[in-house]
Amino acid sequence: MLTIALSKGRILEQTLPLLKKAGLEIADEELNSRKLILDTNLDDVKVIVIRATDVPVFVQHGAADMGITGKDVLLEHGANGLFELLDLGIAKCKLMVAAIDKNKLEQNTLKIATKYVNSAKRYFETKGQQIEIIKLYGAMELAPVVGLAHCIVDLVDTGNTLKANGLVPLEHIEDISSRLIVNAALFKTKNAQIKTWVKGIEQNL
Ligand code: ATP
Ligand code: PRP
Repeated sequence: MLTIALSKGRILEQTLPLLKKAGLEIADEELNSRKLILDTNLDDVKVIVIRATDVPVFVQHGAADMGITGKDVLLEHGANGLFELLDLGIAKCKLMVAAIDKNKLEQNTLKIATKYVNSAKRYFETKGQQIEIIKLYGAMELAPVVGLAHCIVDLVDTGNTLKANGLVPLEHIEDISSRLIVNAALFKTKNAQIKTWVKGIEQNL
């Protein structure tokens, strides 16, 4: 049996066609049900659909053999017990610093609102900038507008969300896309089975 952890939401929508091309299908009744462990067209493959941030946790602990989640999530979680095998090229965006204008970044201690605490710390540490992190779980764009922070570190795709809130993208931290990850120990014990799936997905990218 192979268990694959998928991120619900926008990544799932873009993952299903990739899996289908590799021969794995999940019926709409399964996807639309309240079930968390879903059957697939293959007897020996099950899928769990969870929040993107939980995918590396399930895979690291071997509760799922493989998983698909965003690079932003992996940068926060760390690579302990995981191998990143493929860049799937889906859910592409950029992790960026944004503010009302460039001058707002000129602070002795820069106040940053973000849910990407580790990535923000690493980035500003490299620049030698002293920072204070204000951890948020969403709606980061609001923080500079209401004076909660000088800037944000968040994902940017079209830039529409920044624009709608009077912010501008200023500094690029990382290119983000979804990645296929595998449990490091299970990659050894189930190597043939996992490699077959990786090849199947890779050749259809
Ligand atoms: P959660 O529900 O766990 O808090 P979320 O609300 O951020 O997560 P989504 O918005 O579906 O969930 O984002 C999941 C992943 O999709 C992100 O981790 C990132 O990799 C990618 N992503 C997020 N926003 C964008 C975007 N605007 N364009 C492209 N990819 C994105
Ligand atoms: C993501 C991200 C930004 C927005 C960027 O939010 O957190 O707010 O997308 O995309 P854009 O540059 O194309 O506007 P999402 O839509 O996932 O909403 P959420 O953070 O509330 O989940």
